[in-house]
Amino acid sequence: MDRFVIRGGNPLHGTIRVSGAKNAALPAMAAAILTDEPIVLENIPQVRDIETTRKLLAAMGAEVELGYGRAQHRTTICCRGLTSPEASYELVKQMRASSLVLGPLVARCGRARVSLPGGCAIGARPIDLHVKGLECLGATITQEHGYIEASAKRLRGAEIVFDKITVTGTEDLLMAATLADGETVMQNCAREPEVADLADLLNRMGARIEGAGTSTIRIKGVSRLRGTKHRIIPDRIEAGTFVIAGALTGGDLNVVGCDPRHLSVVLEKLAEVGVRTASAGDSVRVIGDGVLKAADIGTEEYPGFPTDMQAQYMALATQAEGSSVVTENIFENRFMHAQELVRMGANIKIDGNRAIVKGKTPLSAAAVLASDLRASASLVLAALVADGETIVDRVYHIDRGYEHIEEKLRGVGAQIRRIGEIFPKRAVPAAVRA
Ligand code: UD1
Repeated sequence: MDRFVIRGGNPLHGTIRVSGAKNAALPAMAAAILTDEPIVLENIPQVRDIETTRKLLAAMGAEVELGYGRAQHRTTICCRGLTSPEASYELVKQMRASSLVLGPLVARCGRARVSLPGGCAIGARPIDLHVKGLECLGATITQEHGYIEASAKRLRGAEIVFDKITVTGTEDLLMAATLADGETVMQNCAREPEVADLADLLNRMGARIEGAGTSTIRIKGVSRLRGTKHRIIPDRIEAGTFVIAGALTGGDLNVVGCDPRHLSVVLEKLAEVGVRTASAGDSVRVIGDGVLKAADIGTEEYPGFPTDMQAQYMALATQAEGSSVVTENIFENRFMHAQELVRMGANIKIDGNRAIVKGKTPLSAAAVLASDLRASASLVLAALVADGETIVDRVYHIDRGYEHIEEKLRGVGAQIRRIGEIFPKRAVPAAVRA
């Protein structure tokens, strides 16, 4: 298993480029199920969840081509012959977002068999709202042997009101409704930019969707969708992570290739903490020369403070003067990074869904364990300012969602190395070596 060794203390300087949003790329790949024509996706990040989705689609009979060389961020998916509309436990357990194929499969093939995700490191993550929504659209759903089986001759438009805001639930049903007979109106939808990006792709495929990015989405069903080309939006969570890295290390970092509009609440909060940033076009410059002051956050659905930035914010709060209260409102059990930060010298007390962080405390290097994707990012951030060499274990979590993070950080002056690779990443053919 790979680990990172990080020596803290270097301020980050220079330009760091943001990749495409994993959370927009995953539903976009699932959307390819809805048509028998090729879908070309640009700005696909090279992260493990994309590879898991490729396997998931290939196992159904899809042709998935990943680009290489200069086109390494492109993928072409053609779901001409879907022989097996199934998502196995083996793949779903690796990536809960696999449930995104449920809606498109029923809509396109009339049936789907998708494993239930089970628990995951950040608490119970049910898919009951996906199931309920599909039932509203007329699907018959049964559950057996840990699998959901859904079937419908043709889905029909309906009124769906989400009991709770769910990002992938909104996306799953949005995809299903595009091919339904008649109009669907979905209320209390997730307003994340990734939902709007998916709707943009679906509309290019011939869907008739209005209101994506707001809490009410209207979809007029069509009988078929066609192939198209689409560019995935930048990853706002990766961008936010790099902005915090610049602030924490007292550097001067230009985070490029992002969309600052998607980061506005995060940047406002950072301004309150005393972090100076300047946004221009597709970049955010962070100048980490100020004294950091404590400030409270509470995670919320978009446009609120993202739960996917909570762990990284906590790393920053350990270096701010005063008490910061971090309240996690979206997921239970999403404070596993706190104990690891404490092992590095942070002063953090957990009280239910609140963490009280008292700063500023010097951080010292330790061996720490990454427990989930964003938790691992927070440990990398803490290590960048810790005294000594930190070892972050289980970095496969970070590889799920951050593209070559160690190479990107090294490019702006961080001392970070990956160890534990048994085989080199890219084997050089014998003919080239000779
Ligand atoms: C997505 C993101 C993830 C982010 C999360 C919240 C992707 C691939 N992942 O995850 O990075 O952390 O949004 O912003 O986009 N819930 C139910 N029943 C359901 C579905 C969800 O009770 O059927 C609950 C969940 O347990 C959770 C809350 O709703 O408490 C929000 O979850 P949801 O928005 O669905 O998260 P994901 O879409 O899985």
